[in-house]
Amino acid sequence: MEFETLKPEIDRIIAGTSGNTEEKLTAICELLRNSVPYYDWVGFYFKNGDKEELKLRSYAGEPTDHTIIPFGKGICGQVAVSNENFVVPDVKAQDNYIACSIHVKAEVVIPLFVNGENIGQIDIDSHTPDPFTPEDEAFLEYVNRQVATIL
Ligand code: SME
Repeated sequence: MEFETLKPEIDRIIAGTSGNTEEKLTAICELLRNSVPYYDWVGFYFKNGDKEELKLRSYAGEPTDHTIIPFGKGICGQVAVSNENFVVPDVKAQDNYIACSIHVKAEVVIPLFVNGENIGQIDIDSHTPDPFTPEDEAFLEYVNRQVATIL
């Protein structure tokens, strides 16, 4: 996957003058899902106010029941407290995992920082086993840095 060609498209969405933050986040989710063959569900979760939980804000893909995830629960909840990328090549090998769809084989969650604070994350599910590389992580860190500028 040529992530370098996607970066200008991310930049264009971020810099767009039409559309609010919600629409931009959704546009990014749709761009990623439509452009990367093994990105089957793409979403942004953010800390829900003062609560120790994540709330789903934007996504592309099948609707999920898991719109609220307590800190510490699942891959997403673990990243909310670890502040570190979490690459899961095989979701079946994880004990602390929240299944959204029986088709999901792998997942990656990258924290999103504003002023050094972990305030949310991008979460990607894949129907392909073990698809994520360090290039995915670097690209998704870039996406999150760009998103942080409009929050
Ligand atoms: N699998 C995630 C839950 C969110 S869904 O992937 C949309 C987890 O374990 O935290």
